Amino acid sequence: MRGHPNLERRTFVDKQKLEGMIQEFSEETIKQKKVDRRAFIEGAGKIAGLSLGFVIAQSIGGLDVQAKAKTIKFSSYPFTLGVCSGDPSPQGIVLWTRLAPDPLNGGGMPNEVVKVEWELAKDENFQHIVKKGSATASPNLAHSVHVEVEGLRSNAIYYYRFKSGNELSPVGKTKTLPKKNEEVQKLTFAFASCQQYEHGYYTAYKHLAEEELDVVFHLGDYIYEYGPNEYVSASGNVRTHSGPEIITLADYRNRYAQYRSDANLKAAHAAFPWIVTWDDHEVENNYANNIPEKGQSVQDFIKRRAAAYQAYYEHMPLRKTSLPNGGDMSLYRDFSYGQLASFNVLDSRQYRDDQANGDGSKPHSEESLNPNRTMLGKQQENWLYKNLNKSKAHWNILAQQVFFAQRNFGANGAQLYSMDSWDGYPEARNRIIDFVKKKGMDNLVVLTGDVHASWASNINTDFNDASSSLVGVEFVGTSITSGGNGADKRADTDRILAQNPHIKFFNDYRGYVRCTVTPESFQADYRVLPFVTEPNADISTRASFVYHKDQTGLKQIVTNAVPYGLKKSTEVEEDRTIAHSKAHTKQVNKLKKKVEN
Ligand SMILES: [Fe+2]
Repeated sequence: MRGHPNLERRTFVDKQKLEGMIQEFSEETIKQKKVDRRAFIEGAGKIAGLSLGFVIAQSIGGLDVQAKAKTIKFSSYPFTLGVCSGDPSPQGIVLWTRLAPDPLNGGGMPNEVVKVEWELAKDENFQHIVKKGSATASPNLAHSVHVEVEGLRSNAIYYYRFKSGNELSPVGKTKTLPKKNEEVQKLTFAFASCQQYEHGYYTAYKHLAEEELDVVFHLGDYIYEYGPNEYVSASGNVRTHSGPEIITLADYRNRYAQYRSDANLKAAHAAFPWIVTWDDHEVENNYANNIPEKGQSVQDFIKRRAAAYQAYYEHMPLRKTSLPNGGDMSLYRDFSYGQLASFNVLDSRQYRDDQANGDGSKPHSEESLNPNRTMLGKQQENWLYKNLNKSKAHWNILAQQVFFAQRNFGANGAQLYSMDSWDGYPEARNRIIDFVKKKGMDNLVVLTGDVHASWASNINTDFNDASSSLVGVEFVGTSITSGGNGADKRADTDRILAQNPHIKFFNDYRGYVRCTVTPESFQADYRVLPFVTEPNADISTRASFVYHKDQTGLKQIVTNAVPYGLKKSTEVEEDRTIAHSKAHTKQVNKLKKKVEN
């Protein structure tokens, strides 16, 4: 463990950088006349009173990281949030835990740096220990521990655990990646997203933990920022967020702790290495770069985002390269699974232009069609092209957040597109498709979360021409819980499928996607639950699709009826937006009340 170098010095730079960002973006935002839509000025005067800055400064800026790590005696069990591992390489892995004897109330740790020992073994009984060491858990980072173990065998299973004081953590199992040049014949992984704690039980994770997987991807909405019962699903909320809407660093930490206390989520984390990326709710619904939802000042939002990013780092098995830097955090990165698959994990929130046309489902306009619009930011987009350009992998995978393929929701011949997804950034999407097409690639696989439903789509070079050539496919995973029970079909399912011929599947149950990859084929199994409002639902494969890198595109190879689930709901696409805006109205009203008092 190399610790977190120069954290104290970085802190000084961080604070300055944060202030610089606030200045820059306030000016830029006003210049761009975003003032009306997001009500910055109004927000700046009123909500600045909530003063988020001191929490961050106090938290990052302590001197204690240099103090000698202490061994302490715990009055209650500190490993309440379990263990996890992530960001595997052929030689290494990140091991994670957080000391939190009182997880929902700030963690319950003394304001001291605490010693944590770790062991990694070939066997779960720790008879053959391969590596061990000592790490520090600092109050600066919520007593989280990130150990970057190196010097391991490639494509190998390991077991790990932590010890602090007299307490032993649960045991986690993990796996390194194959060597970069290795010709691997098979990869099995799952991807998940969107786990609104109040909307249901994490039964999907109980089943995911029992799968045989090499790695798990999480594509965002790991937490939701709402206060208790602000965001209510159609099937009713069955659990309650602890504490109000999360805004400060302390709030975000407590929210992660509540989610991480769930036994099924802990089991899924302990079973496999995870590779994570975020979407919007790790900060706030539909934020774009430094632009919040309505009703907050830029200044407050940048501080809020910095707090949210820090708490995300603290709770995820990420490498030091992802340590927050000022108000930013570097999260996009790539992984090679031998020669079989090259994964590009994207961040489509931190660098994007604001949603066009006032967000929501809208027809296109000059604003949304502006060729200068960016989803990834220039640097990340160029990094992606560089990776795609040099890749010799059988499959090039984008593990990312929002719907990539075109989806027209409009009824009766109208054109309506989600302005938050790639449909709101069509020229940015075209640049990627054109690049892949020019390279003659047909092996692009896009993995997506965000929309709380399962979808499968061909990626045509022209979505308005079903006979245009294919560069790959998109598999969209449903939510773990968000949206509640759902149904096999929504009221608008058949219409949406009919008017978007490149889309081959749309199902509204909860669950995750299991993928089996060989050099020739990419198969996605849509693993779904009939309900999430009661625990212990059975899981089944609702459908399986396979893509063979040929111009016939996706083929459905399995279709099953799901026993017990609701067959058809009255829900339509617009209901998703309505649920969010109801939640937002509740939040704004609460804030107004707070400011008035
Ligand atoms: Fe979500």
